[in-house]
Amino acid sequence: MSDRFDVLVIGAGVAGMSVVHSLLHSAPSLKVGLVTLQVPGQAGATPWAQGGVAVAWGEDDSPALHTQDTLAAGAGLCRPEAVDVLTSEGPQRIQELLDMGARFDTRSDGTLELTREAAHQRRRVVHAGDASGREMARALARALPASVRLIYGQLTSILTQGSRVVGVQLDGQHSLAAPQVVLASGGVGQLFAATTNPAGAEGQGLALAFEAGAHLRDLEFVQFHPTALAGGANASNLPLLTEALRGEGARLIDETGTAFMAQYHPAAELAPRDVVAFALWQHRQRGHQTLLDARALPVAERFAQVHALCVTAGFDPARQPLPVTPAVHYHMGGVAVDLWGRTNVPGLWACGEVSSTGVHGANRLASNSLLEGLVFGYRVGQALTGVDFRQAGCLPAVPQLELRQDPLAMARVREILWSGLGLARSQQGMEKGLAALERLRARLSACGSTAHTVASLMLSSGLFRQESRGAHRRLDYTQTSPHWAGHTLLVPGQAVRMQPLQTTFAQEFREDVVRTSV
Ligand code: SIN
Repeated sequence: MSDRFDVLVIGAGVAGMSVVHSLLHSAPSLKVGLVTLQVPGQAGATPWAQGGVAVAWGEDDSPALHTQDTLAAGAGLCRPEAVDVLTSEGPQRIQELLDMGARFDTRSDGTLELTREAAHQRRRVVHAGDASGREMARALARALPASVRLIYGQLTSILTQGSRVVGVQLDGQHSLAAPQVVLASGGVGQLFAATTNPAGAEGQGLALAFEAGAHLRDLEFVQFHPTALAGGANASNLPLLTEALRGEGARLIDETGTAFMAQYHPAAELAPRDVVAFALWQHRQRGHQTLLDARALPVAERFAQVHALCVTAGFDPARQPLPVTPAVHYHMGGVAVDLWGRTNVPGLWACGEVSSTGVHGANRLASNSLLEGLVFGYRVGQALTGVDFRQAGCLPAVPQLELRQDPLAMARVREILWSGLGLARSQQGMEKGLAALERLRARLSACGSTAHTVASLMLSSGLFRQESRGAHRRLDYTQTSPHWAGHTLLVPGQAVRMQPLQTTFAQEFREDVVRTSV
């Protein structure tokens, strides 16, 4: 197969589909391909999202308040310009989703019902029961423009000529030409032994972007969701018990029935997610069990998906507290992009979880990720309408790749990251992880080698940051230090370095780089 596109979008979650909508709405004659492993609507992590999408919608709320909460959760590393974009453009993107036919929960007067999640000072989470991501994905997929070409396949290479992107390779064998490629390929949870992420979230996009010359930022910041349902047979797909349960009053208790969160933070169950996840880890280290008590809530009615997941796992949330454990949920770091999703590589763009826009800092505020996908996906689409699509090079000849993974080697990568880059980190643990990865290198096939790349880069970033901040908790450097108040930056061929927080987007993405990229 060899074909030519104006734009190829990799990934059909909320971010990728938002790019397609925004782009084809403004420039319907463009030839756009959407590369996906599954049918849009079912692809990526989006349909798995339970809680909803945070947006300043209520009368008592404002983008400024939403910005305040996002910055506070981000532990000093959010980029305020990016957060302002997120919170101020969010309401318009939600309105468009409603116009597309998204069915969110409403009150009796027809207005949107808003729920509360941890570290939000207002009720601002728009939701569809507890299957909010599924509903958003359904609405976006149903309204996809007919002209978009769906291409089923796995991204295996980003093809460049000189320093600019000219296309992609799929499935280790097919090359597709496109002068503009948008990565919306999701996160890294499946590189850890315990995660809430779906299969496929192995950081492929991150590794391939790096190989193509892209800068990566803040890879050490991995968010652990505090309440994955424990006790299931398969830790690599733990059922999520949405944070909205705690927002609506569920308590974290131990085996004695004591609600323990107030021992760790004054906001108790509603403390920022990094705090709650670490508190669970500490409480477990002290020999306690950790359970979520949702018996006072109408779980079966309001949280139907959670109820079904519990029942399948053999628990009745109406009668018993549920055993919970933190699990890897979201990657705050990613491919460094400007406010329009441009990377430093001409022709390469990124949005959604694979990207680092700077909105999440060291810890993402609950339910900001779907909003980020909507807002920055839209922005990428708009920026692409200004591009000269005649600029394209020839596709280079690329070797075919073997896709087969060694399952035992991949399982080892998951164990290495879980112990080296888990909730409590140390120099010794991360160095041990890097050494173990090195020993594994030869056993990982071409496809598994992207897992190796991502795991090594994440451990190197974690080792570099000698402090505790947000989701990066170190046992050997327990304090947050102003010395480390910056971003970790990975530039291909160079050692990890610190990028000062004051670096502006214009400095980071020099004007000439941005111009050549469009
Ligand atoms: C949840 O429902 O708790 C997840 C929401 C999120 O990850 O933002």
